Amino acid sequence: MANRIFSLLLLLCAGNLIAQNTSVTNIEPRVEALLAKMTVEEKIGQLTQMPGDISTGTDVAKDDLLNQIRTGKLGSILSHTNFQNKITMQRVATKETRLGIPLVFGFDVIHGYKTIFPIPLAQAATWEPDLVERIERIAAEEASADGQNWTFSPMVDISRDPRWGRNMEGSGEDPYLGSLIGVARVRGFQGNDLAANNTVAACAKHYAGYGFVEAGREYNTVDMSEQRLRELILPPFEAVAKAGSATFMNAFNTLNGTPASMNKHLVTDILRGEWTWKGLVVSDWNSFGEVIVHGAAADEEDASAKCLGAGSDMDMAGGTFQKGMKKALDNGKVTQAQLDEAVRRVLRFKFMLGLFDDPFRYLDPKRREATLFKEEYRKTAREAAAKSMVLLKNDGGLLPLNPAGPFKKIAIIGPLVDSRTYKDYMSFWTLGLGTPYYDSTKVITPAMALKPALEALGFQVTVAGVNLTAASDEAAFKDAIQASKDADLIIACVGERGLDCGESRSVSDINLPRGQERLLKIATLNGNRPTVMVLFNSRPLTFQWANENIESILVAWQPGFETGNALTDILTGKVNPGGKLPVTFPYSLGQVPIYYNALNTGRPQEKQGQMWTSGYLDGPATPAYPFGFGLSYTTFAYEAPKVNKTKIKSGETLEVSVTVTNTGKIAGSETVQCYIRDLVADISRPLKELKGFEKITLAPGEKRTVKFKITENDLAYWNTEAKRKADPGKFKVFTGGNSRDVQEVEFSLEK
Ligand code: NOJ
Repeated sequence: MANRIFSLLLLLCAGNLIAQNTSVTNIEPRVEALLAKMTVEEKIGQLTQMPGDISTGTDVAKDDLLNQIRTGKLGSILSHTNFQNKITMQRVATKETRLGIPLVFGFDVIHGYKTIFPIPLAQAATWEPDLVERIERIAAEEASADGQNWTFSPMVDISRDPRWGRNMEGSGEDPYLGSLIGVARVRGFQGNDLAANNTVAACAKHYAGYGFVEAGREYNTVDMSEQRLRELILPPFEAVAKAGSATFMNAFNTLNGTPASMNKHLVTDILRGEWTWKGLVVSDWNSFGEVIVHGAAADEEDASAKCLGAGSDMDMAGGTFQKGMKKALDNGKVTQAQLDEAVRRVLRFKFMLGLFDDPFRYLDPKRREATLFKEEYRKTAREAAAKSMVLLKNDGGLLPLNPAGPFKKIAIIGPLVDSRTYKDYMSFWTLGLGTPYYDSTKVITPAMALKPALEALGFQVTVAGVNLTAASDEAAFKDAIQASKDADLIIACVGERGLDCGESRSVSDINLPRGQERLLKIATLNGNRPTVMVLFNSRPLTFQWANENIESILVAWQPGFETGNALTDILTGKVNPGGKLPVTFPYSLGQVPIYYNALNTGRPQEKQGQMWTSGYLDGPATPAYPFGFGLSYTTFAYEAPKVNKTKIKSGETLEVSVTVTNTGKIAGSETVQCYIRDLVADISRPLKELKGFEKITLAPGEKRTVKFKITENDLAYWNTEAKRKADPGKFKVFTGGNSRDVQEVEFSLEK
C-alpha cells in the first residue's frame, strides 16, 4: 500500500504509455507526411487555441471564429458549449481548409460536466481514488458525448493556503494523497483508449507551483527552493505524467523569478527530460502574453521565442504566437526545428484522439441525447457527496438525528438552506451547464430533501432561509430567530456560496463570510439550542465561536446536484460519515500556512504560552482540525502499530501492521493512515509524511489488521543537490485515524 505509487510508476514506465494509450496506429509517419505539407502560417495556426462561446478569463479580442478556422489560423477551441456550432466548426476545419486538419475542443470539466459532483477537494476527502475514477469516467462520458475531446483537469497543485480560491480544485495539502487522486482522475478521463468516443484527454495543471502564490493572492509570485519544489509540488505531476496524462498546462505564476510558461527548467529539463514525457503542453489563458506583463519578455516576438524555447507548445486564448511567432522565426529567435516539434505534438495529439480518422466521432447527436444527465449518474453523485462529508464534532452524539430521542421540533435555518443563487452548492467550474443559464431544478437543496425526510421520520420541521444580501441584522434574521425559538434542535446551513470559490476568488479573511457567525449566534439563541452546523465550503474556513458553542459540525463542502439527498443520508444516519480532511483547518487565519507535514523547529512548542518556543502570544500554534481528521457515528480503537523487524536493509520491505476495532454500535468506515518520520537525515525532515492509507468498513465489534509495506523508496527524500536518497538511521512509523492522534514504533534503515 505504502508504495502504491511506486509500483504504479514501475508498471507504467514499462512501456511508452503515451504512445500506447490509443487504438490509432501508424501515427508517426502520418504526422510527418502532414507536417511536410504545412506552411509556417498553418503551423502557427495549429499552435493556437481560442475561446468559443464562454469566457473563463480576461477578454480576448478575436475575429469571427469560423473565419479564423477557415483560414487555418486556429487548431483548437476551448470553452465552447453550443453542440451544433461545434459540428459546424469541425466541418469548416476538415472540409473547407487546405489540409483539413480537425479541431480539438478543450473544456474545463472540473467536477462533472452536466451531472455535477462534489468539488474536487471534497472528492479527495473520500480518500477513495476508485470512486474518483468512477466520477471522472462519468464526466468523460458526458463531455465526450457533447463534443469535448480534452479536459483541463486534473489540477494537481498542492496548496497550504486557504485564502487561495483554487483550493477547491485540488486534492489538498499532501503530495501522496494528491498523486493517487490525480492518477485516478487521469484514468477516469482517458480510459484505455484516447480514441474511443467516450474518453477525453486529461491535462495536468498548473505546472508548477501555483498553489504557493504568496499571501494566497491569485496569480501572485511563487518562490521556493528546488528541494521543496521536488519534494512537495512535483510528485503529483510526475505521477500523472507517468500515468499517461496526454497534456500538461503551464501555470500563470512566476517560479523563482521565471514565468512558468517560459520556464525551461520545468518544461524541458524536468517534464520532458527527467520524466521522458512525450505529450503536449498548453499555456494557461494568455499566460504566454502575460510573460510580457511579468516583465520577462519585451513583446510578442520575444514571448513566443521564450515560451516555445522553454518547451511549451500551444497558446491558449492569447494570440501571442499569432502575433509574434513568424517574426521570431524570421529573426532567428526560434528555429524551424523547434516550431516543427511543437506542431508534431499537436498533430500527434489529434491523431491519438482519433480525430483524423473520424472528426465527428465525438459529435453524434444521438449519443449526446442518450448520454447527458443520465439518472444513474446521480447515484454516483449522491454516493460521492455523502462520502465526502466530514464530521468534525458531534458532542453528546447529537447526530444522527434520532426520532426516538428528546428533540422533536427541528428548525432548518441559514442562507444555504434552500438557495437558488447562481451556482450555489456548486462552483464557477460548472461550465458544462452553460452560462448564464442555471437550471436550478437539477440541484436538490437541503430543504428539498431534508424536510420531507425528517417529517417522514416523525419530526416537526420548519425551514427558515436567510437572505444575506440584505443587511445582516436581526430584522433580516427574524424568521430564523423565530423558527429557532419554536424548535428544540437547529440545523444551520451556512458557509460559502458557489461563486466564492475557484479562479480569481482569493479571500483575505477565512472566517464564515457575510456575517454568518453573527447569524449563528443570534439564530441559535447564543448556542442555547442544540445545533448542527452544516458548513458549505470550498476551502478550510475558521469558525472559532462555532467550535466552542455548537454541538455538531459537519463539513459538507460544495456537494453538487445531490446536495440535499447526500446531506439527508448523513444527518439521518442512512450513511455513516467516513470523510477525512485532505487539508488542515486552521484555528485562525494568522496561522496560515499551517500543515501537517511541517519540519520541526529548533524550539518546538509543547504548550501554548511557553516562552522561547515556536508559537503565538495570542493563540495556539496547533490547528482547529488536523489533516486526515474526521469522526464517525461509531468509534474505532487502534492498537499500537507493530513492525515485522526493527532494522531493514536496502531492498528489504518493512511490514507495519495495526489492528483496528469498531468499538461502537453501528457499522462504519475508517481510513487507517500510516505516516513516517526520518529522525536524523542530512537535512531536516517533516514531523510526519503520509506513506499509506486504507479505508476499511467494520461491523460493530469487528476487528481488522491493516498492513502497510514500507521500502527504501518510501524513506527517500530530495536533498539540496536535487538528488533523491534515503539516509541510514532511525525512523518512526505512526498509525492512526488522523495525522495528530497516532501511535508510533521505531525502526532503522541500514546500508
Ligand atoms: C484559466 C485557469 O487557470 C485554467 O485552470 C483553465 O483551465 C483555463 N483558464 C481555461 O478555462
